[in-house]
Amino acid sequence: MQRQNHPPQMFRCAYPVPYPSVRVTAPNRQYAELLLEDYTGIVSEFTAINQYLHHHFTLKGINEEVADLEECISLVEMHHMELLAETIRLLGVDPRYRVLRNNQEIYWNAAYVYYGYNVCDKLAADIASEWAAIAAYRDHLQRIGDPYIKELLERIIQDEYHHIRLFNEAMQKYCK
Ligand SMILES: [Fe+2]
Ligand SMILES: [Fe+2]
Repeated sequence: MQRQNHPPQMFRCAYPVPYPSVRVTAPNRQYAELLLEDYTGIVSEFTAINQYLHHHFTLKGINEEVADLEECISLVEMHHMELLAETIRLLGVDPRYRVLRNNQEIYWNAAYVYYGYNVCDKLAADIASEWAAIAAYRDHLQRIGDPYIKELLERIIQDEYHHIRLFNEAMQKYCK
């Protein structure tokens, strides 16, 4: 399925380029295990979604602009999570909220979230988590040979750079 259209509430927080179709060349457990790390590992879309949502909830009434930004970006991370879930399924693995290491399942943990204390501390952690996500995706790009998956990861990275720009703008405005 071609994904040209973003829901309006996330439009501002997604890089304005369409997403590629979700496809794989062939099922591959090793690639699925790498993508599970991006999906629900420590540095993952699921951690980002929950971190930004917590920041959204706790900044409400304190800084509406940053609270709204956190929600908007978390919706884009939710879309990334969906794209990864579909890809992991096509690779032949059930996209449960866990990673697989040496055939052991390690389930996602709410302690992966950086909850934080104030606007600036939360924004700094959010920027750091975007950089960590980009580094992980770049590492996985090196290790995945499937051109369809590579195209998807490259597109997700564009959104993560966009998020760094948006979080940085908020930092400039409120954390001088
Ligand atoms: Fe993401
Ligand atoms: Fe992001």
